[in-house]
Amino acid sequence: METKILPIDKDSLALSKSIIERGGAVAFPTETVYGLGANAFDDAAVRNIFAIKGRPSDNPLIVHVHAGYDITKLVSRIPEYTKLLAKAFLPGPLTMVYESHNKVSAAVSCGLDTLAIRVPSHGGAQQFLKYLDLPIAAPSANISKHVSPVTAQHVYDDLKGRVELVLDGGKCSGGIESTVLDCTGDIPCVLRSGLVTADMIAQVVGECHEYVMKEGEKVRSPGMKYKHYSPNCQTVLFEYAERSKAFEEYNKLLNEGRRAYFMCDDGIFKEFHPQNILNLGKDERQIAANLYDKLREGETVADIIVAVAPEKQDGVMVGVMNRMRKAFG
Ligand code: TXA
Ligand code: MG
Repeated sequence: METKILPIDKDSLALSKSIIERGGAVAFPTETVYGLGANAFDDAAVRNIFAIKGRPSDNPLIVHVHAGYDITKLVSRIPEYTKLLAKAFLPGPLTMVYESHNKVSAAVSCGLDTLAIRVPSHGGAQQFLKYLDLPIAAPSANISKHVSPVTAQHVYDDLKGRVELVLDGGKCSGGIESTVLDCTGDIPCVLRSGLVTADMIAQVVGECHEYVMKEGEKVRSPGMKYKHYSPNCQTVLFEYAERSKAFEEYNKLLNEGRRAYFMCDDGIFKEFHPQNILNLGKDERQIAANLYDKLREGETVADIIVAVAPEKQDGVMVGVMNRMRKAFG
């Protein structure tokens, strides 16, 4: 199968509609990462998404809809606080998990009785979803366990020959996946951290829990138990306090003839000025936006990435550090 990368316009939208309506998959941009979308009502199309990615069959998908879509068609209970959250953060990088109406394919939620719904803010994503006027089930558009894609080229690098069409909407501005929020209880609970933080949610609705996986407990967001976001090269992560040790290690590797690259934020860069640098940027937003791009760049230039955790660990950095730790094993 030939894989086309096309800008989002009348022709590519018409093509994407014909692909989706015959049960195929289309990669599309969002403000977080690129998604690999299929018609959520179509069982075979949803299963095909798992096959294309090599995704474990017990890791449920998020359904994406346009801003005008009536979600009461898909979910059975919409707590009042979700309306406040929708008003504050949607369209945007917040996915809310509701009790499902079981209208979409059972393969979407992998047998769970809940459904995750997201309304992305990316203009191209909205155009695509509006043009189709269907709920689109979409995981990130990478091979399972690899780094999530933040450009159309990243999608192409992973899924070339496996998807017909990648809609190109430029580099994703957010850079890490959406916050996944369980909204089935009286108090919302963050299952996956992202750009909409637990604090931001609590400010709107008064209270917000953060899920911590306990030993022996059934995981509430199955994606959390898998290795993720890993570049195809060796990696090692140092804590901020150990940044001098990290720099020594990087130099030692270079002296051994390794293609070592140093990944850190701009502040740490200015302390050490390493030659082979994967600079994540100045603040938490920049670091989130650059992380996957730099991991993907790293695997093409380095045989080992030596990374240092930024000093700041709260707010958006909770989500960033969660990905960094998973990527660096
Ligand atoms: O930003 C994003 O969320 C991107 C873009 C494409 O929208 N999508 C994304 O999808 O990251 P994916 O499949 O890579 O991650 C979906 C996460 C997984 O951790 C999964 O376990 C969780 O959402 N999830 C999906 N449905 C769920 C449900 N019903 N209950 C709990 N967790 C759910
Ligand atoms: Mg993913």
